[in-house]
Amino acid sequence: MLELNHWKSSYSVGHWVLDNQHRVLLSLCADALDLMPEDLSEKPGHRFHHAQEELLSCIEEHFKTEERLLKQLGGSVYEHHRLEHQGFSRQLSNYLDQVDKGEIDRDSLQTFFVEWWTGHILNSDRAFSNAIQRIPKMTT
Ligand SMILES: [Fe+2]
Ligand SMILES: [Fe+2]
Repeated sequence: MLELNHWKSSYSVGHWVLDNQHRVLLSLCADALDLMPEDLSEKPGHRFHHAQEELLSCIEEHFKTEERLLKQLGGSVYEHHRLEHQGFSRQLSNYLDQVDKGEIDRDSLQTFFVEWWTGHILNSDRAFSNAIQRIPKMTT
């Protein structure tokens, strides 16, 4: 099971830019969870909203970087992966809305993060690891 705050070499997709972005993203997910209210009746505070904004902007930047690389591989890989990213962004904004309304607790958001990143980084992203390492460095 993927741990959000403890990077392991087994998470690597073999590309240092993507690995660094993944590492930051996992840690930002852990920060957002830490800043969620303990009690569902409490509204998330400004520190949570700040963490949320940072997380969303890093996710957007990461998806753009990864999709730019995948585009160079051609074929259906890029389009399929782009749709996976899009689906995640939609799900994440639903989850964050629910956090704001006090409808989901920390455990549910944590499960969503762990399941999504496990499925995505460890399977979908790592699936293109070999191909992405063959892209000439100057173009990445
Ligand atoms: Fe991805
Ligand atoms: Fe990724």
